[in-house]
Amino acid sequence: MQQPFKAVKVTDNVYWVGAIDWGLRYFHGYSTERGSTYNAFLILADKITLVDTVKAPFRAEMLSRIKSITDPEKIDYIISNHSEMDHTGCLPEVIETVGPERVFASAMGVKALSEHFHLDREIVAVKDGEKLSLGNMVLTFFETRMLHWPDSMFTYLVEEELLFSQDAFGMHLATSERFDDEIDRGIWEYEARKYFANILLPYAPQVTKLLEKLSKLRFSIKTIAPDHGPVWRRDVNKVLDLYSEWALQRPTKKAVVVYDTMWGSTGRMAAAIGDGLKQGGASPKLMPLRSCTRSDVATEILEAGALLVGSPTLNNNIFPTVADVLTYLKGLKPRNLIGGAFGSYGWSPAGVEQVWEALTEMKVDLVGEPLKVKYVPDSGSLEQCVSWGASIAERLKELCGRETT
Ligand code: FEO
Repeated sequence: MQQPFKAVKVTDNVYWVGAIDWGLRYFHGYSTERGSTYNAFLILADKITLVDTVKAPFRAEMLSRIKSITDPEKIDYIISNHSEMDHTGCLPEVIETVGPERVFASAMGVKALSEHFHLDREIVAVKDGEKLSLGNMVLTFFETRMLHWPDSMFTYLVEEELLFSQDAFGMHLATSERFDDEIDRGIWEYEARKYFANILLPYAPQVTKLLEKLSKLRFSIKTIAPDHGPVWRRDVNKVLDLYSEWALQRPTKKAVVVYDTMWGSTGRMAAAIGDGLKQGGASPKLMPLRSCTRSDVATEILEAGALLVGSPTLNNNIFPTVADVLTYLKGLKPRNLIGGAFGSYGWSPAGVEQVWEALTEMKVDLVGEPLKVKYVPDSGSLEQCVSWGASIAERLKELCGRETT
């Protein structure tokens, strides 16, 4: 029967059968201005195998793509590389429709799937390094714990040198194109960086270890098929290199200045600090929270050396938008940052002091003291902001020099 949605051939025996979420703009706190895809892949081996599924509302789209190449009831195996619901939301219904012989996940995946869906059928646990014969082809499983959930694993299709990498190497990007070489490089590089910063950053040390492990195993990887965004077939090495670089979080001369303002005073301080940073040789990036999202801030911090946060005091407290971004960043655990706190206040400098405490908790290496201005900054206070910015630029220069020597 003619199907409205078609599968897309990835390699000789692998097809993309996922779904495109053009309207997605919010993904658990992450602003996804370009939508997303939920990638699922069908391996046409002797044992027909489905790798991952899609978010629940997209089940019909995925099944239609599968039907464009085979009858879903012919699927023998389903592999769940990651149990988060954007990849398993429709798994219980798909299992019912397909009636697969076996469903596989990592040991932690088996537990997570049971705790999500309370299924009354067995999910088979596979171990790190275990192989699964599909008759004429072989799959190898790799546990990738905490990348980015405890259950996460990779599946490698030996004969096609293809790595199914679940969220790793993915991005939130809805396009009709399925491959890296069909998409503007500026767009994919930005979205891949944004995805790393907002999803994988807390686990950067695990990324480094995983890349070392893959390199020691000497697997040839011709294609990487992640669960979001394009399939990598031209820039495989490039994305591996980017991950290895991002995971190290080396300091740069970029200084991210994040702030909100009530009556313009903290905003004026931010502008003067930005000028001081520039005069001192840093690259300031000012991010007023009226026009930037928390995920934009996380993206900029990934390749920065300094984080300066400004908050006015509201009702003896930090400003709500600033508290929001600090809570988000604290969870992402950025490393190797110097920083500082600044802000205007009326009768209590509680806002800027709470920013200082939050940055201390985040283990940001704080420079000097919190910079506070009562009500409206005069030219002397603005000069002080410029000098403060310049002194942070000096520290950045020292740090970057140390990195390159
Ligand atoms: Fe795309 Fe962790 O889910």
